[in-house]
Amino acid sequence: MKKEELKLVSEQIIELKNKNEHFFIMNGRRKTYHILTYGCQMNEHDSEKIAGMLTSIGYEETYDDKNADLVIFNTCLIRENAELKVFGKLGEVKGLKRNKPDMLVAVCGCMMQKKEIREKLLKSFSFVDIIFGTNTIHELPGLIYNVEINNKKSVDIIDNTELIYENMPKNRKFKFKALVNITYGCNNFCTYCVVPYVRGREKSREPIEIINEVKALAQDGCKEITLLGQNVNSYGSNLENKFTFAQLLYELNKIDGIERIRFMTSHPKDLSDDLIKAIKECDKVCNHVHLPVQAGSNDVLRRMNRKYTKEHYLEIVDKLKTAIPDIAITTDIIVGFPGETEEDFLETIDIVKKVQYDSAFTFLYSLREGTKAAVMDNQIPDEVKHERFNKLLDVLYEIVLNKNEQCIGKVFPVLVESLSKTENTLTGRTEHFRLVHFNGSEDLIGKIVNVKITNVKTFHMEGITVD
Ligand code: SAH
Ligand code: SF4
Ligand code: F3S
Repeated sequence: MKKEELKLVSEQIIELKNKNEHFFIMNGRRKTYHILTYGCQMNEHDSEKIAGMLTSIGYEETYDDKNADLVIFNTCLIRENAELKVFGKLGEVKGLKRNKPDMLVAVCGCMMQKKEIREKLLKSFSFVDIIFGTNTIHELPGLIYNVEINNKKSVDIIDNTELIYENMPKNRKFKFKALVNITYGCNNFCTYCVVPYVRGREKSREPIEIINEVKALAQDGCKEITLLGQNVNSYGSNLENKFTFAQLLYELNKIDGIERIRFMTSHPKDLSDDLIKAIKECDKVCNHVHLPVQAGSNDVLRRMNRKYTKEHYLEIVDKLKTAIPDIAITTDIIVGFPGETEEDFLETIDIVKKVQYDSAFTFLYSLREGTKAAVMDNQIPDEVKHERFNKLLDVLYEIVLNKNEQCIGKVFPVLVESLSKTENTLTGRTEHFRLVHFNGSEDLIGKIVNVKITNVKTFHMEGITVD
C-alpha cells in the first residue's frame, strides 16, 4: 500500500471510531457485528482478522444475526453445497434487511473472488452493501466508511497480489489455541479445485514475522498453534532467503509457552525427509500429519494433477511410520472424479486399507466451473458417486473405530477445548487429533490434562481424568 493510501485509511478509521463512539453515547450500546463463516480454517482465521478490525473501530460481536448492525458472510466455493448454503442464508437476510434498512450486509471470501458469482450477487441480491475478497480484508474499514459516510455501495476485489498484510488486529476465538498463516494461496492447480483461482499464487510469510507472532501468542497464554497453508510443505520456496518448513518447525519448537504445534495441509508431493526428521525431533510438533490422498488410482491421480502415484504415497507413509511409530495419519478423499471407473475406486479402497487412516474427510466430487476437471469427459452420475461414497465410509469407519479401540485403557494428554454438548462433559483433543469427551469442571478449559480412555465410538472417545 502506498503511504498516502495508508494515511487515508487511518483517517477513515479515526472518523469511523468517533462515529461509533457517538453511537454508543447516544444509544447506550455499541454497534454490533455478526460473522457467518463458511469453509476451511483459512476462512476461520480471516474471520478472526475481520472481527479484530471491527473491534478496532468500535464494533462489538453479537451471536444474534437478526439484530446485528452489520452481518458479514465469509464465503467458501470449494464445493457446490458450500455455495448453495450462502445463497440460502442471503435469502433469509434479504427479508431482515427489508424491516431493518440500517443493517449493513457485507459478503466476502472465496466466492467473491469469482466474477460470475459477484455479478449474480450484485444483480439478485442488490441489498448487499459491501463486497470484498480474500486479498482485500485489510480494506474493510475503508469500505464501511464508503457506505456509511459517502453512502456508496463498496466493491473491492484484487485477483492476485504479491503483498502480505502483517499485523492486522485479530479477535482470536480461543485464548489457548491459535491459527497462524504461514503461506497464502496455492500453485498446485489440482484439476478439481478452485482454490488457486480464488486465493491467488502461493506466497510465504517471512519466518521472522511468523516467529514473532507465535512468541506474542505464547506470551498471551496460547498453548497450541496450527500453522496454516494450502501446502505447508512448500513453505519458503518464494522467499528471497530460502527457508524451509522443517527449519520453521525447529525455530517455533524453541518458543517457551507453546506446547503443541500442528500444521495443515501437507501435500504428499512435497513431504521431505527433512520434514519427517523435524516432526520426530521437535517435541512440541504433534505426531499427526494430515496428508490428503484424494484417490488411490494412478490414472485418477494423474488427471487430478496431484503429481504423485499410489506407490509414492505409500512410500511416504511407510517412511513416516518407520521414523515415528505412533504417527497419526489423516486424509481427504474425493469420490467420483470424472472418469473414475469401478477399478479406480477399488484402488482408493485399497490405499485406505493399506494406510489405515486415523480419520478422513470424504467428499463427493463437485463440479466447479473454471477448473480443468469441469470439462473432462465422463462425469460420474450422482447415484454412482453416492454408492461408492457409502462403500468407502463403511471401510473407513471400521478402520477408524478399530484404531480408536486400540486406545482403550491408555492415557493421553488432552488439550481441553470446551464444554461438550452433553451436560458436565468436557471435550478436547489428543496429540493425534482424536476427540475425547470426559467429565471435569469448566476451569480445566485451556489446560492439558491426562485422560484415560474408557470407551470409544467412531467419531470420538470417552475417558476419565487421571493424575
Ligand atoms: N490445500 C489442501 C486442501 C484444500 S480443500 C490440500 O491440498 O489438501 C480441502 C479438500 O476439499 C481437498 O483436499 C479435497 O479433498 C476437497 N475438494 C477440493 N475441491 C473439491 C471438489 N471440486 N469436489 C470435491 N471435493 C473437493
Ligand atoms: Fe486445491 Fe490442490 Fe491447492 Fe489443495 S493443493 S488447495 S487441493 S489446488
Ligand atoms: Fe477454504 Fe473454501 Fe476458500 S475451503 S480456501 S474457504 S474455497
